[in-house]
Amino acid sequence: MKVAIITGGSNGIGKSTVVELAKRGVGIILTYNNYQDRAESLVEAIQSDYGIRAVALKLDLTNRASFASFENDVRKLLREVWETDEFNYLVNNGGVGGPMMLDDLTEDYFDKILNTNFKGSVFLSQRLLRFMKEGGAMVNTSSSSKSQSFPGYSIYGSLKAALSVWTRYIAKELAPRGIRVNAVSPGPTHTNFGDGAFDQHPELIKMLADQSVFGRLGKPDDIGKVIANLLSDDFGWVTAQDIEVSGGHLL
Ligand SMILES: NC(=O)c1ccc[n+]([C@@H]2O[C@H](COP(=O)([O-])OP(=O)(O)OC[C@H]3O[C@@H](n4cnc5c(N)ncnc54)[C@H](OP(=O)(O)O)[C@@H]3O)[C@@H](O)[C@H]2O)c1
Repeated sequence: MKVAIITGGSNGIGKSTVVELAKRGVGIILTYNNYQDRAESLVEAIQSDYGIRAVALKLDLTNRASFASFENDVRKLLREVWETDEFNYLVNNGGVGGPMMLDDLTEDYFDKILNTNFKGSVFLSQRLLRFMKEGGAMVNTSSSSKSQSFPGYSIYGSLKAALSVWTRYIAKELAPRGIRVNAVSPGPTHTNFGDGAFDQHPELIKMLADQSVFGRLGKPDDIGKVIANLLSDDFGWVTAQDIEVSGGHLL
């Protein structure tokens, strides 16, 4: 059985990815940060709906000191639950957002976005990729904001651009092991992102939907299906790509 590790798998795009992978028979290690309850209910649903073993682990991407014990927990789980020392897929999806204009910019905000959305994923991947099985695959959740210029998103967009560029470099470094590395760049997607910004400001939904050729925001499943497919052997000849999954936002 193949096993996937999905960061930020407790909610939104990560949750959809977890479900899509489980439907395809992939064993699941998902991570949560604040909402253990959401993660545990997802684990139960996966097991009862698809008969797939899933385990939820706490991970805070800003806390790199915790990565060694996270790695130990993953290695232990792989042995005890799946009787293997290796895993097959990694989805670097956990992230935070929210706008801040340059004039208001603080180092705390900058460091939070940096450490969660880029630096955390890089150093976690460094550890985990050492025991990814030959022929495995990794997908990084970037953002269409990396090639746009909405006021307030300069740091978020710049650091997603960094994640996309890193994807291409690492694809080359991992190719000798037969590992593929790609990114998806979702457009505006109706999740809890930015502390529920879409639900708190419904006017945002209309504005962004009007900018899409299909007249709506993305749903988590619009993205999760693409991530699950990109990981699969159907995309076995695709690496170093960054696919915008935005339903033609700002086309
Ligand atoms: N929604 C959009 O419009 C959109 C567009 C482009 C790209 N994206 C990207 O898509 C990814 C998923 O976001 P989403 O829209 O699905 O948002 P979401 O529903 O808020 O989910 C975010 C996930 O990331 C986890 N997370 C938050 N802070 C973390 C930390 N410090 N360490 C580890 N995990 C952390 C959350 O865990 P807890 O909930 O347990 O705290 C949750 O599982 C993000 O990388 C985001 O940048 C989203």
